[in-house]
Amino acid sequence: MQLPPGFQLSFSPSKLLCRPGAIETLAEEARTLGMRRVMLVSGTRTAQGRAMAAVRAALGDAVAHEWTGIPQHSGVADVTAMAAKARALGVDGFVAVGGGSASDSAKGAAILLAEGGTLADHANVFHPPDHYVQKVLAAPKLPIIAVPTTLSAAEVTPGLGVRDEHGHKLVFWDPGVVPRLIVLDALATVDVPAALFATTGMNALAHCIEGMYSRVRNPISEGLALQGIRYLRQALPRVVADPANLAAREQALVGAYLSGLVISNARVGIHHGICHGLGSLGGLSHGTANAVMLPHAMRFNREVAAEPLALAAQAMGVEVAGKTPLEAADAAIAAVQALQRQIGVPRGLGEAGLDRALVPALARGAMSDRGLYFNPRLASEPEVRELLESAW
Ligand SMILES: [Fe+2]
Repeated sequence: MQLPPGFQLSFSPSKLLCRPGAIETLAEEARTLGMRRVMLVSGTRTAQGRAMAAVRAALGDAVAHEWTGIPQHSGVADVTAMAAKARALGVDGFVAVGGGSASDSAKGAAILLAEGGTLADHANVFHPPDHYVQKVLAAPKLPIIAVPTTLSAAEVTPGLGVRDEHGHKLVFWDPGVVPRLIVLDALATVDVPAALFATTGMNALAHCIEGMYSRVRNPISEGLALQGIRYLRQALPRVVADPANLAAREQALVGAYLSGLVISNARVGIHHGICHGLGSLGGLSHGTANAVMLPHAMRFNREVAAEPLALAAQAMGVEVAGKTPLEAADAAIAAVQALQRQIGVPRGLGEAGLDRALVPALARGAMSDRGLYFNPRLASEPEVRELLESAW
């Protein structure tokens, strides 16, 4: 693919530990980060699971408090209360265990503690069609350690989303909240249902595919995205076929990590722009929304992004010799649909449980999502509505 006319790249100072049983070393790792009094952050189900038990055992007395009520989409009220509690206890860092909501909540609390004010003060704003305002959040943040148990990859990125009281997702971008340590411990995820790996894995795959066609893609994000696509399309069917397969779970976790590096640098497009509303307004999990929408978003972009999608097709294991870029792009879409069937994720918004009456509001909401800014093809509100209907 041609080099872009200019590009920038940044990697946060974040250490990755990847090995079954890596959580055992957490106390030592926390000390090297100056964390002696941490708040554990998780959802209620994760709090009873294997990863959390391992984290508790490893950290021992260094745990000042467990905040275990994080809902599927973290909300402004929760994060604000969490920050107040952290301040009152004088914690010196967060350990987020679980999916994207846990790490997004920890990141949000770190922003509030350091920057003051309210969360809304620090959210980025997109004025359609093409003006994007990113806030500068320069105050030093408390360190975060992330132990992901899903494939959301939220922990890898400087981005985060928190749902406001109207169901809109406030989005933030702050390199200071990228976890200083990310622990990929496949052993700690064996009690996580394979179906959750499947849906959140489709979200990770979407990060890679959207990264391929994003307006701010670059040669480095492209390399990461292609490797992420290869890992995820190999690993997800293996995890679903044999949920006890540790090597497959680890490959999936690494694929998700790669996808996080992709969106940290190439951001996400219309697919995520729509999925944010499907989560915050429509009540779908981010993974489920992603699992359904991905082929539809690819089809929306196929003509302007045929070349990057043709490369994605190859990474999906498709033979593209003799195909035009557009034919190869269509083959990439077909390969994603085949993967959907193979791993048994929902393929329609109705099947996923969305209320069809929400479609107009979802389309309207998506218009102010930053994903539309980074998408290679500008979208109008009727087009977004049509895209949502096509995914029914
Ligand atoms: Fe995502």
